[in-house]
Amino acid sequence: MKELLNKLKETSLSSVLKAESPEELENLRVKYLGKKGELTSILKQMGKLSDEDRRVIGQAANSIRASLEEAFESRKNQMYEKLLDLRLKLETTDVTVPGSKMRIGKKHPVSIIIDEVKDIFIGMGFTVADGPETELAKYNFDKLNHDENHPARDRQDTFYFSEDDNILLRTSTSPVQIRVMEMRSPPIRVISPGRVYRKDEVDATHSPMFHQIEGLVVDKGITMGDLKGTLNTLIERLYGSDAKTRFRPHHFPFTEPSCEIDVQCFECGGEGCRVCKNEGWIELLGAGMVHPYVLEGCGTDSRVYSGFAFGVGVERMAMRRFNIPDLRMLYENDMRFLDQF
Ligand code: PHE
Repeated sequence: MKELLNKLKETSLSSVLKAESPEELENLRVKYLGKKGELTSILKQMGKLSDEDRRVIGQAANSIRASLEEAFESRKNQMYEKLLDLRLKLETTDVTVPGSKMRIGKKHPVSIIIDEVKDIFIGMGFTVADGPETELAKYNFDKLNHDENHPARDRQDTFYFSEDDNILLRTSTSPVQIRVMEMRSPPIRVISPGRVYRKDEVDATHSPMFHQIEGLVVDKGITMGDLKGTLNTLIERLYGSDAKTRFRPHHFPFTEPSCEIDVQCFECGGEGCRVCKNEGWIELLGAGMVHPYVLEGCGTDSRVYSGFAFGVGVERMAMRRFNIPDLRMLYENDMRFLDQF
């Protein structure tokens, strides 16, 4: 029996020293010291021994148990220290490495234009309204007097969210006109900048996402004269007091009459050049008198009130202002480009 014990001592101690993981160690503990472990099963046979032998073997067994327990404990500590060392190594911060500098961004050219236009209109007594980019077809089309079959509703042109085509990414900021008129009664003077979406292929002048600024005025006695005066003021502020404008008849379903407004090319002064594609004029915005159907649809009495609305493309203005040849540059987040503004 003594021999058995000695053998057990040898093998158990050496396997504890070789254990690599806490799990392995625990398995060994069960194997040797557990209720059904090897040491216990040897001790169970002690009943057969003489008193003297039992004393000697008992002592030996206890000392084995003690040294085994000690071995387990010290192996466990070793493992813990090794782990701690590893963690400390992994988590050290080398305070002598030079820090990486936080780059502070700049105002994006699109934001510069939006803020400038906001300032100009706030100075004329306008407030700024906001509307959702995910819009209902009701606001994006129906209430803007687009009938069921209007080509702008085509799935080719518009990002729809639902099978029934009721929810979509707004194709212009004009639905904000409706939302504002439904919420407030005249006098109304608001602008609303924001993102709009169309299924366009990306090229130097097109992007499926771009920005517009919508404007809406509704009050008693508003005329096309107010429209011209307001928009001429905008253009003068943006392009200088000698900027010449041209109002061209156009069609929008939600304004009547409608127009597009061009500014005389600031590059060639109207002679015709690369910038204006030899037109002498550059198209800046769409506008018109709010259609009586639209007013009535929002609960506004079109015999008492009239209004005008306009929409400008922000990227276009930014490209002209800063001489940016390709729209895509605005979305590339290249600091070498953005740093220039
Ligand atoms: N929503 C029109 C567009 O995106 C612009 C517009 C706005 C025209 C308001 C008239 C009045 O082209």
